[in-house]
Amino acid sequence: MTKRVKKIYNITQKLLFSSKKKDAESILDLYNFYTCFPLKEDNQGDISLKNGIAISKKNAADCIHDYKRTASFLRGVYNAIIECKKKFPNEELNILYAGCGPYAPLLLPLLSLFEPDNINITLLDINQASIDSIKQIVIELGYETYISNCIVADATQYQYRKNESLHMIITETMFHALTKEPQVAITQNLAPQLIEGGILIPEEISITLGYSFFSKEPFLNQYNNTYHVANLINQNAKRKFVETLFSLTKSKNKGVVDSYYFESKWYPIPENYEETPDICIYTYIKVFDVFQLQYEDSLITNPYCLTSLYNLQNKSKFKIKYSIENIPNWEITVS
Ligand SMILES: C[S@@+](CC[C@H](N)C(=O)[O-])C[C@H]1O[C@@H](n2cnc3c(N)ncnc32)[C@H](O)[C@@H]1O
Repeated sequence: MTKRVKKIYNITQKLLFSSKKKDAESILDLYNFYTCFPLKEDNQGDISLKNGIAISKKNAADCIHDYKRTASFLRGVYNAIIECKKKFPNEELNILYAGCGPYAPLLLPLLSLFEPDNINITLLDINQASIDSIKQIVIELGYETYISNCIVADATQYQYRKNESLHMIITETMFHALTKEPQVAITQNLAPQLIEGGILIPEEISITLGYSFFSKEPFLNQYNNTYHVANLINQNAKRKFVETLFSLTKSKNKGVVDSYYFESKWYPIPENYEETPDICIYTYIKVFDVFQLQYEDSLITNPYCLTSLYNLQNKSKFKIKYSIENIPNWEITVS
């Protein structure tokens, strides 16, 4: 093991096998590890796509700081690889990481814990600068034996090699309430390419409608790359969950999104809403098995406010629509 591989091995060991209380510290170590690689300047900003925005290399790199997210994905992916090895014992595991960013942080740190035989990884991102960076890091760590391909491609269109089985897909290209980024379109394109029994990470993203007092909702706040939960004192803030609207999984999605949008049924406007005056969308992520992100754990699961019920006075019902065309977003119709 080279010095650098030993270092990332130690950081990853600590993260996976010590108390979650140390997650923030371990993730900072991980970020500092990556910043030791002198990467080229990049002036490309966000890229607008047909089904969402691909965030810039700098913003993608900073996602690591969302520490419960990063830690939970790393634990989930680690256990998913072990599970995949059990399921497909005599096969080379083909893993596609779509939207890897400049650091591939949801997979690369784990590689020092696995032998390179029988693992064959494709790293993919639409951002050329991110792929240039990750290529350089792969070479400097000597990880070419794990990683056969680093490619620039649009994951909403990409077709995996036809003559090979795809055992696992990792993709985190989302924001809260599935707004802004193209997670849904990417999942729609890639998940059907998995081999039977293959694993999609995250296993499930579920979207729930509810009423709440939004300004009292606990949420993860980010300031200068430090993260803390705001409104923590309101952890038991009143919420009235209405129902789960849809879940995004590898199989045919319950209730959605085989096409470009999801449309809810009509909901009557509640009679009394002083205590819970806001219509909210809640995002829950099952990364893999027991590794999960609850509301307010992460920027990508923070609660999202659609509108206040006070704006709907004199109306009797509403329905909501989620669309992935241009920039994924929610809209409300009243009657
Ligand atoms: C939220 S960042 C996550 C980066 C990194 N995987 C992480 O988890 O920290 C999403 C990444 O997905 C990439 N991306 C977004 N849409 C994409 C698309 N359609 N095809 C390929 N990459 C995409 C962005 O360029 C960005 O690097």
